[in-house]
Formats: sequence, C-alpha cells, structure tokens
Amino acid sequence: MTEMNERVTVVDHPMVQHKLSILRSKDTPSNKFRALVKELALFEGYEATRDLQLEPVHIETPICGMTGQMLKGKKMAVVPILRAGIGMVDGVLELIPAARVGHLGMYRDPKTHEPIEYYAKMPDDIANRQVLIVDPMLATGGSATAALAYLRKQGVQHPKLMVLVAAPVGIKAVLEADPDVHVYTCAIDEKLNKDAYIVPGLGDAGDRIFGTK
Ligand code: PRP
Ligand code: URA
Repeated sequence: MTEMNERVTVVDHPMVQHKLSILRSKDTPSNKFRALVKELALFEGYEATRDLQLEPVHIETPICGMTGQMLKGKKMAVVPILRAGIGMVDGVLELIPAARVGHLGMYRDPKTHEPIEYYAKMPDDIANRQVLIVDPMLATGGSATAALAYLRKQGVQHPKLMVLVAAPVGIKAVLEADPDVHVYTCAIDEKLNKDAYIVPGLGDAGDRIFGTK
C-alpha cells in the first residue's frame, strides 16, 4: 500500500492490481465483474481496518494459556452508495461479519452530473459506529461528497471512503469537502471524459455489476 498523502491510501498489492486489470477489461462479463468487486472490497477492507485497536485477551490453546489480541473499540458500519456500492458490501462483511449496513441511494443526473439522493436507511446508532462508505467509483466526487455530508449530519466521525478507481479531481473534491475523511482506492486514474466518466476507468460500475446495459 502507498500513502499518497496522509488521507489517501492506494492499495497497490500485486493481487489487487491483477484483479483490477481483469475488472477493467470490457470483455469481463457481469458475473465475473461482481465476483471481482467483492474480492477487491475484501482486500481493500484489510487496509481500511489496519488502524483498528486491539486489546490483550487471555486464551487457552490446546498446548497452554497465552495472551492473544482481539479487536476492541467502536462497532462498525458499512454504507454502500447505491447502486454500485452494493457490490462491495459482501466483501467487507466477509471481513467484518458483525458490521451493520446502512444504505444511501444516490444517482448522478446524466446532464449535470450532480448527485441526487433518493433513499437513506441507517442503523439507529450510526453516530457511534466507525463508518466505511463503499462505492467502486470516485469520479467528480459529487456522490461521495454528498454521502459524507449526509453522514456528518447524522453525527458520524472519522469516516472512511473505500473506492476501487478514483479520478484526481474526485479525490481533491472529497478531501476539500470533509475535514478528515480517509480515502482508500486501488488506483488513481488519469482524468474524466466529457461525460464525467473516469479515463481509463472501467465504464459504468452499476451497469456492469447488475447487467443493466
Ligand atoms: C456512479 C458511482 C458513484 C458515482 C461516481 O453511480 O457508483 O456513485 O457514479 O460519480 P461522481 O463521483 O461523479 O459522483 P451512478 O450515478 O452511475 O449510479 P448507479 O450506481 O445507480 O449506477
Ligand atoms: N460512475 C461510473 O460508474 N463510472 C465512472 O467512470 C464514473 C462514474
């Protein structure tokens, strides 16, 4: 993993980069695409949970007693930005089975590229949880910025944003909009095209996950 700055981590593990290249290929069908999004979310989840706190616990192995380490501290929540974020949820839940899931529905207006919120359902105690926002794509940053603003209003602190592919402008937008969000991404691509799609990117993540085009 590479720390781009103290608030951006690029997960550059060889396995991640290999799988990301298969994901990007236009020849990768929906079923394979879905499986890869889930796997990449699991790998990325390892990095996004690297700073979780541990506490000593006494355990008995079949051989003897010892002091092991177990997680302590805040409970977690995964918040996918619908639709495409749903593809990352199961990967993160494989890593953190006890996490709660909050859903945030948002789509980009095709003309203005502005995010439009259409659904929100969070766990009651979201303000007391460590929140991992998941969405494969960070393009203009509009959707992620709106998601962060919504979660801040709910009292969430120190949110983390996990994406698979990010555009530089999107990263800049979220870092400027939120005081301490940490962004995890598997790649930082070159730019956006005139339709605000990431170049080279991987196309429309939601359509590729759900086979809607
Ligand atoms: C995609 C993607 C992000 C957003 C990124 O969602 O999953 O949520 O675009 O773009 P932005 O950074 O410019 O906001 P989309 O609006 O296509 O909705 P979908 O997931 O329902 O397909
Ligand atoms: N949303 C996507 O799904 N892909 C992009 O490249 C940009 C936004």
